[in-house]
Amino acid sequence: MAHQWRGVIREYFDRLDVTSDTPIITLGEGGTPLVPAQALANLLGAEAVWLKFEGMNPTGSFKDRGMTMAVSKAVGHGAKAVICASTGNTSASAAAYAAQAGIKSVVLIPEGKISLGKLSQAVAHKAEILQVQGNFDDCLILARDLAENYAVHLVNSVNPDRIEGQKTGAFEVVEALGFAPDIHALPVGNAGNYSAYFKGYSEDRAAGTIKHLPQMWGFQAEGSAPFTVGHPVANPETIATAIRIGNPASWDLALNAREVSGGRFGAVSDADILWMHRFLSQEVGVFVEPSSATGAAGLYKSQRQGEKFAGKKIVVTVTGHGLKDPMWALKDVNGNDIQPQSVSKNAAEVAERLGLA
Ligand code: F0G
Repeated sequence: MAHQWRGVIREYFDRLDVTSDTPIITLGEGGTPLVPAQALANLLGAEAVWLKFEGMNPTGSFKDRGMTMAVSKAVGHGAKAVICASTGNTSASAAAYAAQAGIKSVVLIPEGKISLGKLSQAVAHKAEILQVQGNFDDCLILARDLAENYAVHLVNSVNPDRIEGQKTGAFEVVEALGFAPDIHALPVGNAGNYSAYFKGYSEDRAAGTIKHLPQMWGFQAEGSAPFTVGHPVANPETIATAIRIGNPASWDLALNAREVSGGRFGAVSDADILWMHRFLSQEVGVFVEPSSATGAAGLYKSQRQGEKFAGKKIVVTVTGHGLKDPMWALKDVNGNDIQPQSVSKNAAEVAERLGLA
């Protein structure tokens, strides 16, 4: 019988902070494809580029790797409810894992600023959803406050169980390639995932599985780029709502990861993000939500500014599925709505329309 992937806790049991007493709440997360992206390698002039396609997780984003850990540990501690602040993906994931665990989930989202796909997931999994009159950073302050003072367990990435679960993304990259890439690029919001990949690679290096750490390259949206400006941003703005975050929760972890790995942070415009979002779906066949294209968009911007990637092997994490926020695919480069043409049932006419005749 073919091997059935068992979710990250069972697959990496010995390398995670769990014991045989930890209840395992899983939806089969992890084991996502590492997709060769020749078109992106050509664009960048790199030797090879792979996309770690995290949209293939059960709720459509990388959050599931951390959520299986956070909810399992919460249940192990006797929690009856979990809470998170979210730009949408964390809430979708928390709601699904809480449903599987049979506990309650409470999600705090910035009013009017999460995509319909993500909101529908939280509703579908029966989360208690509150829209906060503020941005993500306000939601996180509120969530932390409630978790400190009431009987509800925080499952944002300030909870180390989340980072612990998400580090398995790096383990999978190393297993798939047999080596560490030269550069690992990804989008940055709270910098939890950036820090988690660094942790995973560092553990692989300590174990002797890889010889060097990849440089960690993290990219933010220009209007929401605290790491490039060097301090929190009060009113973050970007169409990439998943990473519309002004005060990253994992600030110190991320600075350390950048320094130790010899990496860097950068910022890209919304137009660059949308361009790369379209390039990945049209030239690589991988459909991501706009925020998820930010890592690749940052590499391409670096290349345009003179960076040379010749001989480099690069992995880019694309963090969430395109179906989360499909409206961006339905617009052309000029922002006009795309409507499929209407045709009759006549083959000759259709052939003519297709230019086949
Ligand atoms: N990409 C996507 C699709 C995300 O949803 C997020 C974060 C990130 C990248 C950035 O990851 O925060 O670890 O640096 N989304 C969070 C949420 C904030 O609430 O879903 P990070």
